[in-house]
Amino acid sequence: MPYSGPFQPGDKVQLTDPKRRHFTITLVPGANFHTHKGMVAHDDIIGADEGSIATSTLGTDFLLFRHLMVDHVLSMPRGAAVIYPKDSAQILVEGDIFAGARVLEAGAGSGALSMTLLRAVGEKGHVFSYEIREDHLNFAVDNVTEYFGEKPEHWTPRLGDFGEITQEDLGGPVDRVILDMVEPWHFLDTVKDVLIPGGVFMTYVATVPQLMNIMEGIRETKSFIEPRAWETLLREWKVEGLATRPEHRMNAHTAFLVWTRRLADGVEPPRPQRKARR
Ligand SMILES: C[S@@+](CC[C@H](N)C(=O)[O-])C[C@H]1O[C@@H](n2cnc3c(N)ncnc32)[C@H](O)[C@@H]1O
Repeated sequence: MPYSGPFQPGDKVQLTDPKRRHFTITLVPGANFHTHKGMVAHDDIIGADEGSIATSTLGTDFLLFRHLMVDHVLSMPRGAAVIYPKDSAQILVEGDIFAGARVLEAGAGSGALSMTLLRAVGEKGHVFSYEIREDHLNFAVDNVTEYFGEKPEHWTPRLGDFGEITQEDLGGPVDRVILDMVEPWHFLDTVKDVLIPGGVFMTYVATVPQLMNIMEGIRETKSFIEPRAWETLLREWKVEGLATRPEHRMNAHTAFLVWTRRLADGVEPPRPQRKARR
């Protein structure tokens, strides 16, 4: 699927009307887009540059852009809650998702993180996405396939329990593991078994009890360095002359991120791990 350049047949195009309402169409030569504001011929869009305007038969202007990945993630059908862009951005950088990396994630859910990871590792990397629920896996496969225009060859979506994965299933160890599931602390032995020494493990948990359990669980394995935990608050600003100020509303909480790295086999964590007070 092209990410830039003039529009081509098969592209998904977002049309925005003067009231900032969005309409998404897939370009088919000879087809027409109908609204109560008139009709736009797909042929008038094919060959135009992104950022152009198409005028309907009733004189309404529609601004034309392809969907960015964030638009797709936030508008696609969902089986499970998705990881929001502010958090997947953190996972890409803090998780050190590099071009060519072999990354294992679970659960695949709706496929939002899968597509972010797939773009970052590129065709020389590989993403394995495990999902225990078939209906959720179907959402992930459909959403990822729709975004890329086909199922990427460097993606292996699998129906299965993360706790049963072995290195053999993955053709060797992976460089990074990312978990987004309710009780990730039950799967730390699997993370340790499949992650290469030095590899980064990140997990995404929504509540404080989950955060406490995963932090303690990581420390108890003695197979990882002292974990870090944080959340990311994103506050948009309205910038309009003297009215410039933060927006009144924000998504105050999505989840916490936890980060650690696997130690080499037989190595104890170099300093005493903090003990939780009960
Ligand atoms: C919140 S969703 C993941 C959303 C996904 N990260 C995204 O961005 O679209 C959590 C998923 O984990 C799956 N899951 C729970 N336990 C699992 C396990 N043991 N193995 C694999 N998947 C599991 C659930 O079925 C659910 O679909």
